[in-house]
Formats: sequence, C-alpha cells, structure tokens
Amino acid sequence: MKALILYSSRDGQTHSIAAYIANQLQDTLNCDVIDLQQAENIELGQYQQVLIGASIRYGHFNTALHRFVKRHADQLNQMPSAFFAVNLTARKPEKRSPQTNAYTRKFLLSSPWQPKQCAVFAGALRYPRYRWFDRVMIRFIMKMTGGETDTSKEVEYTDWQQVDRFSQEFSRIQYEK
Ligand SMILES: Cc1cc2nc3c(=O)[nH]c(=O)nc-3n(C[C@H](O)[C@H](O)[C@H](O)COP(=O)(O)O)c2cc1C
Repeated sequence: MKALILYSSRDGQTHSIAAYIANQLQDTLNCDVIDLQQAENIELGQYQQVLIGASIRYGHFNTALHRFVKRHADQLNQMPSAFFAVNLTARKPEKRSPQTNAYTRKFLLSSPWQPKQCAVFAGALRYPRYRWFDRVMIRFIMKMTGGETDTSKEVEYTDWQQVDRFSQEFSRIQYEK
C-alpha cells in the first residue's frame, strides 16, 4: 500500500512531523513525503491514501495548501485522506483540536476538501533562527499570550505521543467508513 504525505513547512517543524509519521508507518505503508510546493501536478491515483500537513504563519496557511486543495478536491474527497495543522496557538492543550484551533476550524469550514481525519499539533518556537522582524513580532505575540519571551531560546512544543496516536489512526483510515 502506498501513501502520500504532503507538507507545507517554512521553518522545518511540519516537515519533521511528516517525516516522523512516514517513519512510524514504514512497516504498514510505503510513504512518499513531498513538499506541497513541488506537488501541484502530482498523480494522486498512484496512492491509496493521502495526508497533508501545513503550518501557520501570521494567521494563515500557505497559499500552496489552498491551491492544491482547490485543484484536487474531488479526488481527495474520494480517497481516505487526513490533514494536520501545526501552529503555536496549539501549545495550549485547549487549542489543540480541529474544533478549538481557530485556524483549523476556519480552514475546515471553507475547504472544498473534507479530510476524514484531522489533528492539530503544537509547533516549535525557535527565536535564534528567525529574522529580526519575525523575532520581534513573535516575541510580542508570546508576551500577549503568556508564552516564552526569552529570545535566546528554542522550544519544541510538539507532543510526539499525540503524533504517534495520529499515525496509528492514519494507518487504519482505509478500513474506516
Ligand atoms: C513568522 C512567524 C509567524 C507565525 N505566526 C503564527 C500565528 O499567526 N499563529 C500561530 O499559532 N503560530 C504562528 N507561528 C508559529 C508557527 O506556526 C510554528 O513555529 C510552527 O512550528 C512552524 O512550522 P514550520 O516550521 O513547519 O514552518 C509563527 C511562526 C513564525 C516564525
């Protein structure tokens, strides 16, 4: 069985999560992990199931996600498919579900693609790697929302056990109605 895992990642965390899931699934599924930016013309018919992961930047998913979903909605809706969102709002457990994470809820409400399985993962905060402007902006947001403000720090909030559970569900998605 062949699965496609597409990711939209700016700083690498969503890519890491996608690669981790592929690794977790290697005994049951043969996964191709591909950058969504390179996948516009991909032949979905060669896969039995699809997973798409995307991160949030300044309140939005990358336009590549919206473009891909619009273009392939019909086919995606006919396949076992899943979606995961990555952002820092989800570092708070009460904002880590598709219903309680505003970005994810909004996406699902307006998306022509309705994935059968969906999750929200907390991302990573890596101040030293950000450009000056982004570092200032993120620090401001963190201050407003009670998060880490020490700009010498890198913090990974991703709950890898949650990712494990999601991977297991994704491996069973073929058989669920
Ligand atoms: C410039 C910038 C803007 C961000 N904007 C948001 C945001 O609006 N809301 C949020 O919850 N997280 C925001 N984040 C946090 C990212 O979603 C988080 O760092 C995630 O791990 C990034 O995933 P990636 O490494 O795959 O790009 C932002 C991060 C950066 C660097």
